[in-house]
Amino acid sequence: MKTYMSYGLLILLIAYKSQFVQGQGHLLDKPVTELCLTCICEAISGCNATAICTSPEKGVCGLFRITWAYWVDAGKLTINGEHPDAERAFINCANDPHCAANSVQNYMKKFNQDCNDDGEMDCHDYARIHKLGAYGCKGDMPYKYQSAFEECIENFEDQGLGDKTD
Ligand SMILES: *[C@@H]1O[C@H](CO)[C@@H](O)[C@H](O)[C@H]1NC(C)=O
Repeated sequence: MKTYMSYGLLILLIAYKSQFVQGQGHLLDKPVTELCLTCICEAISGCNATAICTSPEKGVCGLFRITWAYWVDAGKLTINGEHPDAERAFINCANDPHCAANSVQNYMKKFNQDCNDDGEMDCHDYARIHKLGAYGCKGDMPYKYQSAFEECIENFEDQGLGDKTD
């Protein structure tokens, strides 16, 4: 069931890409692979695509549980041509799988760093940056998030797809 849902999301992300998402006048680069995105969303929300904010007053929304500050740092992407300053611009983007995924890409592009000091910048660092933030990514990972993430990566590695998570 879990694996099935992951693939559903993966296909969704690959199918939609970024053409419907507008940034602030620049093309989006994508440092994070689709498999890595899948494992981050698996760990943080179970890849539950139900459009919700788990904590509306704090604004923690969507598949990737994005906060307002994260969305701002990621360049205030919007959907359907919405103005970035519109009241619901953040919520609508965070609850949209491809706008949210592109926000993760922008955030990682901006804050790319070797959080676990292993000499590489890969999905393990992105998972840390996503959960702990750009300035706290060397800290301790919550157990549940960490173990769900590792399990997802191992799943892909077992299928011979591991190298694609880098
Ligand atoms: C997804 O989240 C919604 C809202 O919290 C919940 O009602 C639903 O049961 C969840 N779906 C799964 C498959 O966990």
